[in-house]
Amino acid sequence: MKSISSKRLKGNILIPGDKSISHRVVILSSIAIGISNIKGLLLSDDVKKTIESMTSFGASIKFSSRGICTIEGVGLGGILEPKVPLNFDNSGTSARLVMGLASTHNITSIFTGDASLSSRPMKRVLKPLTNFGANYSLRKDNFLPAILKGSDLPIPFTYELKEPSAQIKSAILLGALNTPGTTKVIDKYNTRDHTERLLDLYDADIEVRKIRSIKEISINGVNDLKALNIDIPGDPSSAIFPIVASLICKGSDITVKNILINPTRDGAFRVLKNMGAKLKFMNHKRLAGEDVYDINAKYSDLKGVDIKKHISPTMIDDYPIIAIAASKAKGKTTMRGLSELKLKESNRFEGIINLLRKSGVKVEQKNNDIIIYGNNELKSGGFEFQTYLDHRMAMSALIMGLISKKEIEIDNSDTINTSFPTFYSVMLKINSKISRA
Ligand code: S3P
Repeated sequence: MKSISSKRLKGNILIPGDKSISHRVVILSSIAIGISNIKGLLLSDDVKKTIESMTSFGASIKFSSRGICTIEGVGLGGILEPKVPLNFDNSGTSARLVMGLASTHNITSIFTGDASLSSRPMKRVLKPLTNFGANYSLRKDNFLPAILKGSDLPIPFTYELKEPSAQIKSAILLGALNTPGTTKVIDKYNTRDHTERLLDLYDADIEVRKIRSIKEISINGVNDLKALNIDIPGDPSSAIFPIVASLICKGSDITVKNILINPTRDGAFRVLKNMGAKLKFMNHKRLAGEDVYDINAKYSDLKGVDIKKHISPTMIDDYPIIAIAASKAKGKTTMRGLSELKLKESNRFEGIINLLRKSGVKVEQKNNDIIIYGNNELKSGGFEFQTYLDHRMAMSALIMGLISKKEIEIDNSDTINTSFPTFYSVMLKINSKISRA
């Protein structure tokens, strides 16, 4: 795909279901008792990997002609040993959450992934799981492929998160479900809380206590989960691409329907507001135990801001597109404390700097901070951007193209299907000049 300078983006659009919630709903429905009916499940390449792995564990997962997903769970403790290696391709969330689940079942599973996933750290997830009594081995002690032998007599434990990672937290909580006694996770980082919210909906024995900004999550294991009917809201980390496009392309006014707004995920929207974005949150409702809004975004005169490190977990997936907004904002934007960005689908710390420099934007790096000197001018464009199998870098480069004099083309468009399979049709619907190369 490629893109070029665009104006007057207009229209009402729908965004596919939230990726984090979709993974979790597939996993929890697969181990619940009974049949769950799921509306709005994200059918992206990543979530398909979670579906495949749960099918290998014995769950029955079907789709109706109207797109409703029906899952018949195997019941807690009922997952089967997969006969073949589980291939997670690009999906870090699938691999890490499934590791947690498998770690407290008496089965051996093999985990593989694509070139991107095979270069992302896995020890940070598997090492804590050995407290349950699980054993693992990893290539070079950190990378896929992995062999995980789950514990036959899982032991509960208390774990304080050492990294700001919802995936590590969720892996332990999923392992705790099949562990007798109380497992506790202490999270001082305010990482996304969908696992906790959903466990409550599925009737798990979970307690969340907050002491100042520190969260303590306790699970009493071996209590059955009950199947449920659930409607998944739109993904804010996908919605933010057309939203930023509308904020930076002159004369634009779009409305994005049914978007999840959760205090552990909405940092990028708070930052955009501080930058002077004309964003309106309308028609509040509740879906899947979460707050949901329609969001209106109008072209805005943005200004640079200082983004503090402590909010990074609430916007961790959104830095690449916020960097594009910052390059169009007047003045300096500092994005602080970005070490985790180096461990995503690609090294996004480097990817952002590279994309901005190629576009003629002045950018500096200082330790783990990126400083962007933005202005209201059109950017240069006129290059092909290498995505390194990173869906969010791919979409960010295409949005940068919408404020560029010459085209920006990406080397791999398929990678966008990882999270936002309707990206192209949504961007066409609002009249942006994106085309298939
Ligand atoms: C996710 C957590 C985040 C995020 C990822 C999805 C999740 O990763 O980057 O896209 O669904 O739990 P970390 O927990 O590793 O920060």
